Amino acid sequence: MNNLFILAIDGPAGSGKSSIAKQICILKGWSHLNTGLFYRGIAALAAINKRDIKDEKQLLSVADDFLEHANWQNMFEEKLRIKRIELFRVLHQPSVAIGASFVAKSKVIRDKLLEPQRIVANSCKSGGVVIDGRDVGTVVFPNASLKIFLIASIEERTRRRVEQLKSQQIHASDKEKTPIEFEEIKSDITKRDLQDQQRAVAPLKKAEDAIEIDSSHLSIDQVVSSICSRIVV
Ligand code: DC
Repeated sequence: MNNLFILAIDGPAGSGKSSIAKQICILKGWSHLNTGLFYRGIAALAAINKRDIKDEKQLLSVADDFLEHANWQNMFEEKLRIKRIELFRVLHQPSVAIGASFVAKSKVIRDKLLEPQRIVANSCKSGGVVIDGRDVGTVVFPNASLKIFLIASIEERTRRRVEQLKSQQIHASDKEKTPIEFEEIKSDITKRDLQDQQRAVAPLKKAEDAIEIDSSHLSIDQVVSSICSRIVV
């Protein structure tokens, strides 16, 4: 093991994990690994190749294809590609998010993804890595240097997701654009929360030694400085 500082940030959809992680990485010169991209990548690849993720055989073959061909070195830049397919263009579509939550229920898939997540995180060349997800502090890096469990109200999380989707669509072509409805997004997030919390394998939960932060009424800067004040390298 090298001297990498591993900061695990877990929490429900839209709690601000990725924005906070990115900001910390800018301040510290660290790398960011969003583990949700592994699940989203498999769901997106299945949709593109018209494979049925509810059929375990098909799901496994998509996962194997993904694990064999994903351009891991670009995982930190979130420019996920498979062969020539630019998966990163569709990763944040609501349908892919729902698919990812389904994929994430599979124990076989979670087991398959465990080692690649650790390898990618440990391959980063900076002094630290911020890894966000649902089970980073509980399963993927139980010995993380610091664990944060980030929460926020459902209303606030929906509002943030709507803003995020709008900004992602600014440069999208008309074909790539999808309608953004507050109530629909809220119901999608609620559905995903339930799936993530109630699944049998590695459900979303706070690690015993994680620090819980409620970001509902805090700015990104406030959360970032609260976390940074706890980083002792
Ligand atoms: O963080 P996200 O919304 O990009 O994650 C997409 C889905 O993947 C989400 O439903 C939960 C799941 N996920 C998971 O189960 N474990 C992780 N470490 C990261 C994401």
